[in-house]
Amino acid sequence: MLLLSLAFAAMAVAQNASTSLTPATTTAFDAGVPTDAPIPGDYNGQWRPQVHFSPPTNFMNDPNGCFLDGNGTWHLYYQYNPTATVAGNQHWGHATSKDLYTWQNEKIAIFATPDSQIFSGSIVIDTNNTSGFFPNQTDGVVAIYTLNTAAEQTQEIAYSFDGGYTFTNYTSNPVLRASPPSNQFRDPKVIWYEDHWVMVIAYSQEFVIGIFTSPDLKEWTHASNFTSHGLLGLQYECPNLVSMPVLGGDSMWLMAISINPGAPLGGSITEYFPGTFNGTHFEAVDAAARIADFGKDSYAGQFFYGLPEEADPVFIAWSSNWQYAQQVPTGPQEGWRSAMGLPRRSYLVNNATRTGWALISVPYDLTPILLPSPLITNSSLGNSTLLADYSSVSSGALYFRVNVTNLPPLAQATGTLNFTFSSSSTRESVSGGFYFSGDNPFWLSRQNVLGFSQTNPFFTDKFSVGNVLNPDGTFTLEGVIDRSILEVFLDGGRNSATATFYPEGVLDTVEVRTSGINEETVVAVEVWGLKSTWAEQASEDGIVYGNVGSSASGNATQVVRRKM
Ligand code: FRU
Repeated sequence: MLLLSLAFAAMAVAQNASTSLTPATTTAFDAGVPTDAPIPGDYNGQWRPQVHFSPPTNFMNDPNGCFLDGNGTWHLYYQYNPTATVAGNQHWGHATSKDLYTWQNEKIAIFATPDSQIFSGSIVIDTNNTSGFFPNQTDGVVAIYTLNTAAEQTQEIAYSFDGGYTFTNYTSNPVLRASPPSNQFRDPKVIWYEDHWVMVIAYSQEFVIGIFTSPDLKEWTHASNFTSHGLLGLQYECPNLVSMPVLGGDSMWLMAISINPGAPLGGSITEYFPGTFNGTHFEAVDAAARIADFGKDSYAGQFFYGLPEEADPVFIAWSSNWQYAQQVPTGPQEGWRSAMGLPRRSYLVNNATRTGWALISVPYDLTPILLPSPLITNSSLGNSTLLADYSSVSSGALYFRVNVTNLPPLAQATGTLNFTFSSSSTRESVSGGFYFSGDNPFWLSRQNVLGFSQTNPFFTDKFSVGNVLNPDGTFTLEGVIDRSILEVFLDGGRNSATATFYPEGVLDTVEVRTSGINEETVVAVEVWGLKSTWAEQASEDGIVYGNVGSSASGNATQVVRRKM
Protein backbone atom coordinates (compact mmCIF):
# COMPACT_ATOMS: atom_id res chain seq x y z
CA MET A 1 0.00 0.00 0.00
CA LEU A 2 2.99 2.12 -0.65
CA LEU A 3 1.39 5.20 -2.16
CA LEU A 4 -1.97 4.84 -0.52
CA SER A 5 -0.94 5.39 3.06
CA LEU A 6 -0.10 9.04 2.62
CA ALA A 7 -3.43 9.70 0.96
CA PHE A 8 -5.37 8.14 3.86
CA ALA A 9 -5.27 10.97 6.36
CA ALA A 10 -6.39 13.55 3.85
CA MET A 11 -9.29 11.37 2.72
CA ALA A 12 -10.48 10.81 6.28
CA VAL A 13 -10.38 14.49 7.12
CA ALA A 14 -12.42 15.28 4.04
CA GLN A 15 -15.09 12.85 5.16
CA ASN A 16 -15.90 14.75 8.34
CA ALA A 17 -14.08 17.89 9.21
CA SER A 18 -16.35 18.85 12.10
CA THR A 19 -15.26 16.28 14.72
CA SER A 20 -11.71 16.48 15.93
CA LEU A 21 -11.30 15.00 19.43
CA THR A 22 -10.05 11.44 19.84
CA PRO A 23 -12.64 9.78 22.07
CA ALA A 24 -11.56 7.63 25.02
CA THR A 25 -13.78 4.77 23.92
CA THR A 26 -13.35 4.16 20.23
CA THR A 27 -16.48 5.28 18.38
CA ALA A 28 -17.36 6.28 14.85
CA PHE A 29 -17.04 9.79 13.49
CA ASP A 30 -18.73 9.13 10.15
CA ALA A 31 -22.44 9.59 10.07
CA GLY A 32 -23.79 6.28 8.88
CA VAL A 33 -21.12 4.07 10.46
CA PRO A 34 -23.02 2.32 13.26
CA THR A 35 -21.39 1.99 16.68
CA ASP A 36 -24.03 -0.17 18.34
CA ALA A 37 -24.73 -2.92 15.78
CA PRO A 38 -22.98 -4.73 12.95
CA ILE A 39 -23.34 -3.39 9.44
CA PRO A 40 -25.98 -5.44 7.56
CA GLY A 41 -24.74 -7.31 4.51
CA ASP A 42 -26.26 -8.87 1.41
CA TYR A 43 -24.38 -12.13 0.84
CA ASN A 44 -26.46 -13.31 -2.12
CA GLY A 45 -24.34 -11.89 -4.92
CA GLN A 46 -23.06 -14.18 -7.64
CA TRP A 47 -19.43 -13.63 -6.53
CA ARG A 48 -20.02 -13.66 -2.76
CA PRO A 49 -18.04 -16.52 -1.22
CA GLN A 50 -20.24 -18.76 0.93
CA VAL A 51 -17.66 -20.46 3.17
CA HIS A 52 -15.09 -17.67 3.23
CA PHE A 53 -15.33 -14.48 5.26
CA SER A 54 -16.08 -11.26 3.41
CA PRO A 55 -17.22 -7.94 4.91
CA PRO A 56 -20.91 -6.99 4.98
CA THR A 57 -20.29 -4.06 2.62
CA ASN A 58 -17.40 -2.00 1.25
CA PHE A 59 -13.65 -2.61 1.44
CA MET A 60 -11.62 -5.07 3.48
CA ASN A 61 -7.92 -5.88 3.49
CA ASP A 62 -5.60 -7.48 6.09
CA PRO A 63 -6.73 -9.80 8.88
CA ASN A 64 -5.94 -8.18 12.24
CA GLY A 65 -6.03 -9.17 15.90
CA CYS A 66 -6.81 -12.84 15.23
CA PHE A 67 -7.29 -14.76 18.47
CA LEU A 68 -9.08 -17.73 20.01
CA ASP A 69 -10.80 -16.93 23.31
CA GLY A 70 -11.31 -19.15 26.33
CA ASN A 71 -14.84 -20.08 25.21
CA GLY A 72 -13.59 -21.50 21.92
CA THR A 73 -14.71 -18.49 19.87
CA TRP A 74 -12.40 -17.44 17.06
CA HIS A 75 -12.12 -13.67 16.64
CA LEU A 76 -11.21 -12.15 13.30
CA TYR A 77 -10.68 -8.41 13.01
CA TYR A 78 -9.87 -6.83 9.70
CA GLN A 79 -8.76 -3.68 7.97
CA TYR A 80 -12.08 -2.19 7.07
CA ASN A 81 -13.25 0.91 5.26
CA PRO A 82 -16.99 0.95 6.03
CA THR A 83 -17.59 4.00 3.83
CA ALA A 84 -16.14 3.06 0.41
CA THR A 85 -15.21 0.10 -1.78
CA VAL A 86 -11.57 1.22 -1.79
CA ALA A 87 -9.09 1.53 1.08
CA GLY A 88 -8.89 4.81 2.99
CA ASN A 89 -10.95 5.20 6.13
CA GLN A 90 -9.42 2.24 7.96
CA HIS A 91 -11.26 0.82 11.00
CA TRP A 92 -11.02 -2.60 12.64
CA GLY A 93 -14.05 -4.63 11.55
CA HIS A 94 -14.85 -7.71 13.64
CA ALA A 95 -16.39 -11.15 13.17
CA THR A 96 -16.57 -14.28 15.35
CA SER A 97 -16.88 -17.96 14.61
CA LYS A 98 -17.10 -21.33 16.31
CA ASP A 99 -15.68 -23.28 13.36
CA LEU A 100 -13.67 -20.71 11.35
CA TYR A 101 -16.11 -20.99 8.42
CA THR A 102 -19.44 -19.80 9.80
CA TRP A 103 -18.73 -16.17 10.64
CA GLN A 104 -21.00 -13.86 12.55
CA ASN A 105 -20.55 -10.17 11.85
CA GLU A 106 -19.96 -8.09 14.98
CA LYS A 107 -20.08 -4.35 15.38
CA ILE A 108 -16.93 -2.48 14.39
CA ALA A 109 -14.35 -2.90 17.15
CA ILE A 110 -11.97 0.05 16.72
CA PHE A 111 -12.85 3.24 14.86
CA ALA A 112 -10.86 5.67 12.77
CA THR A 113 -10.94 9.35 13.74
CA PRO A 114 -11.10 12.30 11.37
CA ASP A 115 -7.35 12.51 11.01
CA SER A 116 -6.10 9.04 11.87
CA GLN A 117 -6.71 5.53 10.65
CA ILE A 118 -6.39 2.25 12.53
CA PHE A 119 -3.89 0.19 10.56
CA SER A 120 -2.94 -3.45 11.03
CA GLY A 121 -2.00 -5.04 14.33
CA SER A 122 -2.65 -7.90 16.69
CA ILE A 123 -4.43 -8.96 19.87
CA VAL A 124 -3.25 -10.78 22.98
CA ILE A 125 -5.01 -12.06 26.08
CA ASP A 126 -3.41 -10.55 29.20
CA THR A 127 -4.16 -13.49 31.49
CA ASN A 128 -1.78 -12.33 34.25
CA ASN A 129 -2.81 -8.67 34.11
CA THR A 130 0.72 -7.56 33.19
CA SER A 131 -0.78 -4.36 31.80
CA GLY A 132 -2.65 -3.48 34.99
CA PHE A 133 -5.85 -2.92 32.96
CA PHE A 134 -7.54 -6.05 34.33
CA PRO A 135 -7.43 -6.28 38.13
CA ASN A 136 -10.62 -8.37 38.19
CA GLN A 137 -10.35 -10.72 35.26
CA THR A 138 -8.04 -13.23 33.57
CA ASP A 139 -9.48 -12.84 30.07
CA GLY A 140 -8.60 -9.21 29.39
CA VAL A 141 -7.98 -8.48 25.72
CA VAL A 142 -5.41 -5.97 24.47
CA ALA A 143 -5.17 -4.78 20.86
CA ILE A 144 -1.84 -3.42 19.61
CA TYR A 145 -2.11 -1.59 16.29
CA THR A 146 -0.62 1.14 14.14
CA LEU A 147 -2.19 4.56 14.25
CA ASN A 148 -1.67 6.09 10.83
CA THR A 149 -1.64 9.85 10.40
CA ALA A 150 -0.32 11.97 7.56
CA ALA A 151 2.83 12.69 9.55
CA GLU A 152 3.65 9.47 11.34
CA GLN A 153 2.87 5.82 12.06
CA THR A 154 2.89 5.08 15.80
CA GLN A 155 1.91 2.03 17.83
CA GLU A 156 -1.07 2.26 20.15
CA ILE A 157 -2.91 -0.08 22.46
CA ALA A 158 -6.60 -0.38 23.37
CA TYR A 159 -8.09 -2.75 25.94
CA SER A 160 -11.32 -4.65 26.22
CA PHE A 161 -13.14 -5.87 29.34
CA ASP A 162 -15.80 -7.73 27.37
CA GLY A 163 -13.66 -10.23 25.50
CA GLY A 164 -12.83 -8.16 22.42
CA TYR A 165 -16.19 -6.63 21.45
CA THR A 166 -15.60 -3.05 22.63
CA PHE A 167 -12.29 -1.30 23.26
CA THR A 168 -11.00 1.64 25.28
CA ASN A 169 -7.96 3.59 24.14
CA TYR A 170 -5.01 3.65 26.53
CA THR A 171 -4.67 7.26 27.70
CA SER A 172 -0.85 7.32 27.39
CA ASN A 173 -0.72 6.22 23.75
CA PRO A 174 1.40 5.89 21.71
CA VAL A 175 3.33 3.07 23.34
CA LEU A 176 5.97 2.95 20.60
CA ARG A 177 7.36 5.38 18.03
CA ALA A 178 10.24 4.91 15.63
CA SER A 179 13.34 6.91 16.40
CA PRO A 180 13.59 9.17 14.46
CA PRO A 181 9.80 9.31 13.88
CA SER A 182 8.69 7.50 10.73
CA ASN A 183 5.60 7.27 8.55
CA GLN A 184 6.64 3.78 7.46
CA PHE A 185 6.74 1.89 10.79
CA ARG A 186 3.80 -0.45 11.21
CA ASP A 187 1.88 -3.69 11.75
CA PRO A 188 2.88 -4.84 15.27
CA LYS A 189 2.32 -8.56 15.95
CA VAL A 190 2.68 -9.42 19.63
CA ILE A 191 3.15 -12.82 21.30
CA TRP A 192 4.03 -14.04 24.80
CA TYR A 193 7.48 -15.65 25.21
CA GLU A 194 8.15 -17.42 28.55
CA ASP A 195 8.14 -14.30 30.79
CA HIS A 196 7.71 -11.30 28.51
CA TRP A 197 5.86 -9.91 25.52
CA VAL A 198 7.56 -9.85 22.12
CA MET A 199 6.59 -7.58 19.23
CA VAL A 200 7.70 -7.92 15.63
CA ILE A 201 7.08 -4.82 13.54
CA ALA A 202 8.06 -3.59 10.08
CA TYR A 203 10.31 -0.64 9.35
CA SER A 204 8.77 -1.02 5.92
CA GLN A 205 11.10 0.93 3.67
CA GLU A 206 14.30 -0.09 5.46
CA PHE A 207 13.49 -3.82 5.01
CA VAL A 208 13.90 -4.29 8.75
CA ILE A 209 11.72 -6.33 11.10
CA GLY A 210 12.27 -4.83 14.54
CA ILE A 211 11.97 -7.13 17.55
CA PHE A 212 10.89 -5.40 20.77
CA THR A 213 10.20 -6.77 24.26
CA SER A 214 7.91 -5.58 27.04
CA PRO A 215 6.87 -6.66 30.54
CA ASP A 216 3.47 -4.93 30.38
CA LEU A 217 2.51 -4.07 26.74
CA LYS A 218 3.13 -0.39 27.57
CA GLU A 219 6.92 -0.02 27.75
CA TRP A 220 8.75 -1.47 24.78
CA THR A 221 12.52 -2.04 24.47
CA HIS A 222 14.28 -2.65 21.19
CA ALA A 223 15.96 -6.07 21.28
CA SER A 224 17.19 -6.85 17.74
CA ASN A 225 16.56 -6.52 14.04
CA PHE A 226 15.96 -9.07 11.27
CA THR A 227 17.15 -7.16 8.23
CA SER A 228 17.00 -7.60 4.43
CA HIS A 229 16.10 -11.26 4.31
CA GLY A 230 14.59 -12.96 1.29
CA LEU A 231 12.74 -11.06 -1.39
CA LEU A 232 12.59 -7.38 -0.52
CA GLY A 233 10.08 -5.98 -2.95
CA LEU A 234 9.51 -2.30 -2.22
CA GLN A 235 8.25 -2.69 1.35
CA TYR A 236 8.11 -5.14 4.24
CA GLU A 237 4.69 -5.34 5.92
CA CYS A 238 2.74 -7.43 8.44
CA PRO A 239 5.46 -9.59 10.07
CA ASN A 240 4.50 -12.61 12.17
CA LEU A 241 6.64 -14.64 14.58
CA VAL A 242 5.20 -17.92 15.76
CA SER A 243 6.33 -21.13 17.40
CA MET A 244 5.77 -23.84 14.83
CA PRO A 245 5.59 -27.59 15.35
CA VAL A 246 7.83 -29.75 13.18
CA LEU A 247 6.45 -33.02 11.86
CA GLY A 248 8.01 -35.82 13.84
CA GLY A 249 8.85 -33.97 16.99
CA ASP A 250 10.36 -30.70 18.04
CA SER A 251 9.23 -27.22 17.30
CA MET A 252 10.92 -24.35 15.50
CA TRP A 253 10.09 -20.69 15.05
CA LEU A 254 8.76 -19.17 11.91
CA MET A 255 9.07 -15.56 10.75
CA ALA A 256 6.58 -14.57 8.06
CA ILE A 257 6.97 -11.30 6.14
CA SER A 258 4.59 -9.82 3.62
CA ILE A 259 6.13 -7.77 0.83
CA ASN A 260 4.38 -5.36 -1.50
CA PRO A 261 4.90 -4.80 -4.32
CA GLY A 262 7.65 -7.15 -5.35
CA ALA A 263 6.20 -10.62 -5.71
CA PRO A 264 7.83 -12.54 -8.56
CA LEU A 265 4.44 -12.47 -10.30
CA GLY A 266 3.80 -8.87 -9.28
CA GLY A 267 2.22 -7.18 -6.30
CA SER A 268 1.75 -8.72 -2.88
CA ILE A 269 3.17 -11.95 -1.49
CA THR A 270 4.05 -13.59 1.82
CA GLU A 271 7.42 -15.23 2.41
CA TYR A 272 8.53 -17.19 5.45
CA PHE A 273 11.71 -18.18 7.26
CA PRO A 274 11.99 -21.19 9.58
CA GLY A 275 14.49 -20.50 12.33
CA THR A 276 15.33 -20.22 16.01
CA PHE A 277 14.25 -17.60 18.53
CA ASN A 278 15.60 -17.05 22.04
CA GLY A 279 13.20 -14.39 23.29
CA THR A 280 15.11 -11.48 21.75
CA HIS A 281 16.79 -12.64 18.50
CA PHE A 282 15.50 -14.57 15.52
CA GLU A 283 17.89 -16.48 13.26
CA ALA A 284 16.78 -18.09 10.00
CA VAL A 285 17.94 -21.66 9.26
CA ASP A 286 19.29 -20.66 5.86
CA ALA A 287 19.29 -17.84 3.32
CA ALA A 288 16.36 -19.13 1.25
CA ALA A 289 13.20 -17.09 0.62
CA ARG A 290 10.25 -19.47 0.77
CA ILE A 291 6.91 -18.35 -0.59
CA ALA A 292 3.72 -19.17 1.30
CA ASP A 293 1.31 -19.37 -1.66
CA PHE A 294 2.14 -19.54 -5.35
CA GLY A 295 -1.04 -17.76 -6.47
CA LYS A 296 -1.53 -14.01 -6.39
CA ASP A 297 -4.31 -13.74 -3.80
CA SER A 298 -2.88 -14.47 -0.38
CA TYR A 299 -1.42 -11.53 1.51
CA ALA A 300 -0.81 -10.01 4.95
CA GLY A 301 -1.72 -13.28 6.69
CA GLN A 302 -1.77 -13.66 10.43
CA PHE A 303 -1.51 -16.54 12.91
CA PHE A 304 -4.21 -16.71 15.59
CA TYR A 305 -3.12 -15.99 19.16
CA GLY A 306 -4.30 -18.04 22.13
CA LEU A 307 -4.30 -21.61 20.77
CA PRO A 308 -3.42 -24.41 23.18
CA GLU A 309 0.28 -25.32 22.99
CA GLU A 310 -0.36 -28.75 21.47
CA ALA A 311 -2.54 -27.39 18.62
CA ASP A 312 -1.14 -26.55 15.21
CA PRO A 313 -1.02 -22.81 14.49
CA VAL A 314 -3.89 -21.49 12.38
CA PHE A 315 -3.25 -18.89 9.70
CA ILE A 316 -5.64 -16.70 7.71
CA ALA A 317 -4.72 -14.30 4.90
CA TRP A 318 -6.36 -11.62 2.79
CA SER A 319 -7.41 -13.05 -0.58
CA SER A 320 -6.35 -10.25 -2.84
CA ASN A 321 -3.41 -8.29 -4.15
CA TRP A 322 -2.77 -4.55 -3.94
CA GLN A 323 -2.19 -4.56 -7.70
CA TYR A 324 -5.94 -4.93 -8.33
CA ALA A 325 -7.77 -5.21 -4.97
CA GLN A 326 -9.40 -1.83 -5.43
CA GLN A 327 -10.51 -2.49 -9.01
CA VAL A 328 -12.14 -5.93 -8.86
CA PRO A 329 -15.74 -5.88 -10.16
CA THR A 330 -17.41 -6.95 -6.90
CA GLY A 331 -17.18 -3.27 -5.83
CA PRO A 332 -19.47 -1.67 -8.40
CA GLN A 333 -21.64 -4.74 -8.92
CA GLU A 334 -22.15 -6.13 -5.41
CA GLY A 335 -20.93 -3.38 -3.08
CA TRP A 336 -18.08 -5.24 -1.35
CA ARG A 337 -14.44 -5.94 -2.05
CA SER A 338 -12.18 -8.77 -0.88
CA ALA A 339 -12.56 -11.95 1.11
CA MET A 340 -10.28 -13.78 3.50
CA GLY A 341 -8.68 -17.04 2.41
CA LEU A 342 -9.48 -20.35 4.08
CA PRO A 343 -8.20 -20.79 7.62
CA ARG A 344 -5.11 -22.97 7.33
CA ARG A 345 -3.65 -25.38 9.86
CA SER A 346 0.13 -25.16 9.66
CA TYR A 347 3.30 -27.00 10.64
CA LEU A 348 6.82 -27.44 9.32
CA VAL A 349 8.46 -30.42 7.68
CA ASN A 350 12.13 -30.83 7.01
CA ASN A 351 13.78 -32.79 4.21
CA ALA A 352 10.59 -34.49 3.12
CA THR A 353 11.96 -33.98 -0.37
CA ARG A 354 15.09 -32.35 -1.69
CA THR A 355 13.63 -28.88 -1.19
CA GLY A 356 14.18 -29.10 2.58
CA TRP A 357 12.12 -27.02 5.00
CA ALA A 358 8.54 -26.38 4.01
CA LEU A 359 5.56 -24.85 5.73
CA ILE A 360 2.63 -27.22 5.37
CA SER A 361 -0.77 -25.55 5.08
CA VAL A 362 -4.01 -27.47 4.94
CA PRO A 363 -7.58 -26.25 5.22
CA TYR A 364 -8.75 -26.22 8.84
CA ASP A 365 -11.25 -29.00 9.63
CA LEU A 366 -13.99 -28.66 7.00
CA THR A 367 -16.37 -31.26 8.43
CA PRO A 368 -18.79 -28.70 9.97
CA ILE A 369 -19.56 -27.31 6.51
CA LEU A 370 -19.61 -30.44 4.34
CA LEU A 371 -23.04 -31.34 2.97
CA PRO A 372 -24.21 -34.74 4.28
CA SER A 373 -23.17 -36.86 1.30
CA PRO A 374 -20.53 -36.45 -1.40
CA LEU A 375 -21.37 -35.29 -4.90
CA ILE A 376 -18.85 -37.67 -6.46
CA THR A 377 -16.71 -40.49 -5.17
CA ASN A 378 -14.59 -42.75 -7.28
CA SER A 379 -11.98 -44.94 -5.66
CA SER A 380 -10.07 -45.84 -8.80
CA LEU A 381 -10.41 -43.53 -11.74
CA GLY A 382 -7.84 -45.22 -14.01
CA ASN A 383 -7.44 -43.14 -17.17
CA SER A 384 -10.84 -41.55 -17.53
CA THR A 385 -13.00 -38.50 -16.89
CA LEU A 386 -15.49 -37.71 -14.15
CA LEU A 387 -18.06 -35.06 -14.90
CA ALA A 388 -20.71 -33.70 -12.54
CA ASP A 389 -23.27 -30.94 -12.62
CA TYR A 390 -23.28 -29.16 -9.26
CA SER A 391 -25.99 -26.61 -9.95
CA SER A 392 -28.00 -28.28 -7.17
CA VAL A 393 -25.40 -27.16 -4.60
CA SER A 394 -26.94 -23.80 -3.72
CA SER A 395 -23.76 -22.38 -2.18
CA GLY A 396 -21.87 -22.98 -5.42
CA ALA A 397 -19.01 -24.01 -3.13
CA LEU A 398 -17.24 -27.36 -3.33
CA TYR A 399 -14.47 -29.25 -1.58
CA PHE A 400 -12.52 -31.67 -3.75
CA ARG A 401 -9.82 -34.16 -2.97
CA VAL A 402 -7.76 -36.45 -5.20
CA ASN A 403 -5.58 -39.10 -3.55
CA VAL A 404 -3.01 -40.69 -5.81
CA THR A 405 -1.25 -43.82 -4.58
CA ASN A 406 0.95 -46.56 -5.96
CA LEU A 407 2.95 -44.29 -8.22
CA PRO A 408 5.97 -46.08 -9.74
CA PRO A 409 9.53 -44.93 -8.93
CA LEU A 410 9.85 -41.28 -9.84
CA ALA A 411 11.56 -41.46 -13.23
CA GLN A 412 8.95 -43.92 -14.51
CA ALA A 413 5.80 -42.05 -13.50
CA THR A 414 3.78 -40.70 -16.42
CA GLY A 415 0.53 -38.94 -17.25
CA THR A 416 -1.54 -36.01 -16.10
CA LEU A 417 -4.31 -35.20 -13.66
CA ASN A 418 -6.51 -32.23 -14.63
CA PHE A 419 -9.56 -30.54 -13.17
CA THR A 420 -11.93 -27.92 -14.56
CA PHE A 421 -14.80 -25.95 -13.04
CA SER A 422 -16.91 -24.48 -15.81
CA SER A 423 -20.10 -22.60 -16.53
CA SER A 424 -22.65 -24.42 -18.69
CA SER A 425 -24.09 -21.08 -19.77
CA THR A 426 -20.98 -19.09 -20.78
CA ARG A 427 -18.35 -21.88 -21.14
CA GLU A 428 -16.02 -19.93 -18.88
CA SER A 429 -13.76 -22.05 -16.66
CA VAL A 430 -11.00 -22.15 -14.08
CA SER A 431 -8.75 -25.16 -14.26
CA GLY A 432 -5.55 -26.79 -13.14
CA GLY A 433 -3.43 -29.85 -13.61
CA PHE A 434 -0.46 -31.91 -12.47
CA TYR A 435 2.18 -33.74 -14.51
CA PHE A 436 3.46 -36.97 -13.01
CA SER A 437 6.60 -36.78 -15.14
CA GLY A 438 9.54 -34.39 -15.40
CA ASP A 439 9.75 -31.90 -12.52
CA ASN A 440 6.10 -32.59 -11.74
CA PRO A 441 4.82 -29.11 -12.45
CA PHE A 442 1.36 -28.08 -11.37
CA TRP A 443 -0.51 -25.28 -13.14
CA LEU A 444 -3.58 -23.23 -12.33
CA SER A 445 -5.42 -21.01 -14.79
CA ARG A 446 -8.09 -18.32 -14.52
CA GLN A 447 -7.50 -17.34 -18.13
CA ASN A 448 -10.82 -18.59 -19.42
CA VAL A 449 -12.92 -16.26 -17.29
CA LEU A 450 -14.50 -13.31 -19.03
CA GLY A 451 -14.44 -9.70 -17.94
CA PHE A 452 -11.90 -8.54 -15.38
CA SER A 453 -9.13 -10.96 -16.28
CA GLN A 454 -9.20 -9.70 -19.83
CA THR A 455 -8.95 -6.02 -18.91
CA ASN A 456 -6.58 -5.69 -15.95
CA PRO A 457 -2.94 -6.21 -16.92
CA PHE A 458 -1.93 -7.18 -13.36
CA PHE A 459 -4.60 -9.85 -12.97
CA THR A 460 -2.11 -12.51 -14.02
CA ASP A 461 -4.04 -15.46 -15.32
CA LYS A 462 -1.75 -18.50 -14.82
CA PHE A 463 0.33 -19.81 -11.96
CA SER A 464 2.57 -22.82 -11.59
CA VAL A 465 4.89 -24.60 -9.19
CA GLY A 466 7.23 -27.58 -9.30
CA ASN A 467 6.24 -30.11 -6.65
CA VAL A 468 8.61 -33.10 -6.72
CA LEU A 469 6.90 -36.41 -6.10
CA ASN A 470 7.18 -38.15 -2.77
CA PRO A 471 9.50 -41.18 -2.68
CA ASP A 472 6.60 -43.11 -1.10
CA GLY A 473 4.63 -43.04 -4.36
CA THR A 474 1.78 -40.79 -3.24
CA PHE A 475 0.41 -37.40 -4.24
CA THR A 476 -2.64 -35.51 -3.05
CA LEU A 477 -4.51 -32.56 -4.46
CA GLU A 478 -7.29 -30.93 -2.46
CA GLY A 479 -9.05 -27.64 -2.70
CA VAL A 480 -12.08 -25.47 -2.25
CA ILE A 481 -13.85 -23.49 -4.94
CA ASP A 482 -16.25 -20.87 -3.62
CA ARG A 483 -17.97 -18.75 -6.32
CA SER A 484 -15.04 -16.35 -6.90
CA ILE A 485 -12.12 -17.98 -5.04
CA LEU A 486 -10.22 -21.17 -5.75
CA GLU A 487 -7.67 -22.53 -3.29
CA VAL A 488 -5.58 -25.62 -3.98
CA PHE A 489 -3.31 -27.61 -1.68
CA LEU A 490 -0.79 -29.98 -3.22
CA ASP A 491 0.85 -32.94 -1.65
CA GLY A 492 -0.67 -32.66 1.80
CA GLY A 493 -0.25 -28.87 1.78
CA ARG A 494 3.43 -28.60 0.80
CA ASN A 495 2.44 -26.10 -1.87
CA SER A 496 -0.74 -24.05 -2.01
CA ALA A 497 -2.26 -21.39 -4.19
CA THR A 498 -5.15 -18.94 -3.95
CA ALA A 499 -6.72 -17.37 -7.01
CA THR A 500 -9.76 -15.10 -7.22
CA PHE A 501 -11.82 -14.89 -10.43
CA TYR A 502 -15.02 -13.18 -11.54
CA PRO A 503 -16.97 -15.15 -14.13
CA GLU A 504 -19.96 -13.71 -15.97
CA GLY A 505 -21.77 -17.04 -15.78
CA VAL A 506 -22.22 -19.20 -12.70
CA LEU A 507 -19.75 -22.12 -12.53
CA ASP A 508 -21.79 -25.31 -12.21
CA THR A 509 -19.85 -28.20 -13.75
CA VAL A 510 -16.84 -30.05 -12.37
CA GLU A 511 -14.59 -32.32 -14.36
CA VAL A 512 -11.67 -34.44 -13.12
CA ARG A 513 -9.63 -36.14 -15.81
CA THR A 514 -6.62 -38.47 -15.83
CA SER A 515 -4.68 -39.39 -18.89
CA GLY A 516 -1.59 -41.48 -19.60
CA ILE A 517 -1.03 -42.48 -15.97
CA ASN A 518 0.74 -45.76 -15.17
CA GLU A 519 -1.52 -48.78 -14.99
CA GLU A 520 -0.84 -49.61 -11.33
CA THR A 521 -1.45 -46.04 -10.12
CA VAL A 522 -4.64 -45.57 -8.12
CA VAL A 523 -6.49 -42.25 -8.32
CA ALA A 524 -9.30 -41.76 -5.81
CA VAL A 525 -11.57 -38.73 -6.16
CA GLU A 526 -14.10 -37.16 -3.80
CA VAL A 527 -16.09 -33.99 -4.38
CA TRP A 528 -18.36 -32.57 -1.68
CA GLY A 529 -20.86 -29.73 -1.81
CA LEU A 530 -20.41 -27.19 0.98
CA LYS A 531 -23.05 -25.47 3.06
CA SER A 532 -23.81 -21.83 2.54
CA THR A 533 -22.75 -20.39 5.89
CA TRP A 534 -24.12 -16.94 5.06
CA ALA A 535 -27.51 -18.03 3.67
CA GLU A 536 -28.00 -20.04 6.87
CA GLN A 537 -27.94 -16.86 8.96
CA ALA A 538 -29.81 -14.52 6.59
CA SER A 539 -33.10 -13.01 7.75
CA GLU A 540 -36.33 -13.33 5.77
CA ASP A 541 -35.39 -10.33 3.67
CA GLY A 542 -32.20 -12.14 2.63
CA ILE A 543 -29.94 -9.80 4.60
CA VAL A 544 -27.37 -10.90 7.20
CA TYR A 545 -27.68 -8.62 10.23
CA GLY A 546 -24.95 -10.26 12.32
CA ASN A 547 -24.76 -10.23 16.10
CA VAL A 548 -27.40 -7.73 17.07
CA GLY A 549 -27.82 -9.29 20.53
CA SER A 550 -25.33 -10.01 23.28
CA SER A 551 -21.73 -11.02 22.85
CA ALA A 552 -22.17 -14.27 24.81
CA SER A 553 -20.10 -16.97 23.18
CA GLY A 554 -21.73 -20.31 24.01
CA ASN A 555 -20.05 -23.68 24.40
CA ALA A 556 -16.38 -24.42 24.00
CA THR A 557 -15.15 -25.53 20.58
CA GLN A 558 -12.70 -28.33 20.10
CA VAL A 559 -9.47 -27.11 18.51
CA VAL A 560 -8.21 -29.56 15.92
CA ARG A 561 -4.95 -31.19 16.82
CA ARG A 562 -2.38 -32.58 14.48
CA LYS A 563 -2.19 -36.27 13.67
CA MET A 564 1.45 -37.33 13.42
C1 FRU B 1 -0.89 -4.31 4.21
C2 FRU B 1 -1.06 -2.89 4.73
C3 FRU B 1 -0.43 -2.73 6.08
C4 FRU B 1 -1.20 -1.59 6.67
C5 FRU B 1 -2.59 -1.86 6.14
C6 FRU B 1 -3.38 -0.59 5.91
O1 FRU B 1 -1.81 -4.68 3.29
O2 FRU B 1 -0.52 -1.98 3.79
O3 FRU B 1 0.97 -2.50 6.04
O4 FRU B 1 -1.17 -1.58 8.07
O5 FRU B 1 -2.43 -2.56 4.94
O6 FRU B 1 -4.68 -0.88 5.53
